[in-house]
Amino acid sequence: KKIAIFASGSGSNAQKIVEHFQSHSEIEVSLLLCNKPEAYCLTRAKNLNIPSHVFTRPEFKSGEVLKVLQDNEIDFIVLAGFLWLVPENLVEAFPDRIINIHPALLPKFGGKGMYGMNVHQAVVEAGECESGITIHYVNAQYDEGQVIFQATTKVSPEDSAEDVAQKIHALEYKHFPAVIQQVVEKI
Ligand code: GRF
Repeated sequence: KKIAIFASGSGSNAQKIVEHFQSHSEIEVSLLLCNKPEAYCLTRAKNLNIPSHVFTRPEFKSGEVLKVLQDNEIDFIVLAGFLWLVPENLVEAFPDRIINIHPALLPKFGGKGMYGMNVHQAVVEAGECESGITIHYVNAQYDEGQVIFQATTKVSPEDSAEDVAQKIHALEYKHFPAVIQQVVEKI
């Protein structure tokens, strides 16, 4: 099975996922796609010998990215720190074949604005005593796809947004690759 990872930023999750499947015989990460030419995830892909493809918003919307995925015989899409809404053409071509990780406990702290540090800042400012990760299928409504997995971590009153971010990244690295494997093995 061939996985494509979409990332927009640092790509630390993408790296953990690639490393996880390097020793797996049936599943491979075949391609990293990115919407930001200067994003560090492209450097990580090069260092990991994973082909990458940078695309623009028109190419994403017009179906050109879909064609790249089909040309590479991609079976499954993983969004790992990807910040654009997935267009209909992709959701329709990959039904129940696109998953995303959200760095909070959906439905709380969901939505487009809640990414990167600001989701953790919102959790801290709300005085939450816990946060976590949500891995879910992606449909045209973005963060509203069926939830596959959630894990939680305690948040203490003296935690900064950065402290929460560290705890969340630890959960992501621990759980995301294994959840992807469970889901992809079943398709
Ligand atoms: C992660 O916290 C992920 O949950 C969120 O954006 C961040 C991406 O980090 N979607 P990285 O690019 O994987 O380092």
